[in-house]
Amino acid sequence: MDNAVKKVLISSEEIRKRVEELGNQITEDYKDSDKELVVIGILKGAAIFMSELSQRIKLPITMDFMAVSSYGKSSISTGEVRIIKDLDFSVEGKDLLIVEDIVDTGLTLSYLTDSLKKRGANSVKIVTLLDKPERRNMKVHIDYLGFEVPDEFIVGYGLDYAEKYRNFPYVAALKEEVYKQS
Ligand code: IMP
Ligand code: MG
Repeated sequence: MDNAVKKVLISSEEIRKRVEELGNQITEDYKDSDKELVVIGILKGAAIFMSELSQRIKLPITMDFMAVSSYGKSSISTGEVRIIKDLDFSVEGKDLLIVEDIVDTGLTLSYLTDSLKKRGANSVKIVTLLDKPERRNMKVHIDYLGFEVPDEFIVGYGLDYAEKYRNFPYVAALKEEVYKQS
């Protein structure tokens, strides 16, 4: 275990099992749809989850990626989300599945779902590996959830602190002294 880790919250084996279950559930839910299913990963946090999950969806999906940056996280609901990298393809008439690492305040996903619906998608659903419900201030409907986590700073399996720790194969709480030091 890395020295920066306070506690491993979800082991790599638990993640693997849950991701397989989510893949099966998504496969089942979309198997009769005649629309194209576009699986959209939100960079960079969702990259690892996206790569594992997409292999568990046994349907002819396409993949695309977006990168966003959100401001005003510590302030209230007027926070702003900026698209850094947009989708490569039109979403009109397609079924969209947004893949996110964690839903925290909900700002990022409430903005993204609204924006993608306005572009004429047939449907927009959300799958997130983690949910930190205590910090929510924007309403977000999560269609598929991996795990709920406590209000701590989480790293691993794609999630970072200052761009580090994304490659941990598990999900962990970071030691306070790591993110409170300047
Ligand atoms: P939201 O817009 O507040 O829901 O924030 C979502 C984004 O903030 C996630 O996609 C993560 O990139 C980041 N984030 C929120 N909580 C954590 C955490 O505990 N560890 C690492 N990143 C986090
Ligand atoms: Mg993210």
